[in-house]
Amino acid sequence: MKDIQTNTNPQLPKEDFYKELAEQIQVITEDQSFWVTNLSNASSVIFHELNSLAYFQEKPINWAGFYITNPKNDQQLILGPFQGKVACTEIQFGKGVCGTAASTMQTQVIRDVHQFPGHIACDSASNSEIVVPLVVDGRLVGVLDIDCQEKEGFDDTDRIGLEAIAKIIVDNCTW
Ligand code: SME
Repeated sequence: MKDIQTNTNPQLPKEDFYKELAEQIQVITEDQSFWVTNLSNASSVIFHELNSLAYFQEKPINWAGFYITNPKNDQQLILGPFQGKVACTEIQFGKGVCGTAASTMQTQVIRDVHQFPGHIACDSASNSEIVVPLVVDGRLVGVLDIDCQEKEGFDDTDRIGLEAIAKIIVDNCTW
């Protein structure tokens, strides 16, 4: 078992925080290739580390995890490893924030989920959301979904940081 350092300095600016988080995720995923294992530990680190950052003390993260492309239906996402409350198990491509990220393969930064047409409310505590597609050779293998209890929880700094983390996760798994 590697000695994994999981206590990022809570005062770090978000840009620096995401660099440290990316290094942690590289360390916890580089010796494993099974996606269940890597997505499980990645969701835990992302959830706990984001919530430890001073910035997110005022904007708590209530859900962080993954939906993967359903192996039995390539137009549907199915719930993967996550931290947070029980969530909906299936999302059609094109539906909700996750399905939009899946069908467009573009990160969705949603400042107010109540303004997003078709938003799927799994946890009523969520008020903003970011969804980052996981893409391998042009194929959507899943999405990283993070929900925040306050509006405007995420911005372009989160998008850049989380897209880099999504790439590390994609590269360290066999799909
Ligand atoms: N809100 C998401 C559904 C997933 S939950 O947030 C965990 C959506 O609209 O796709």
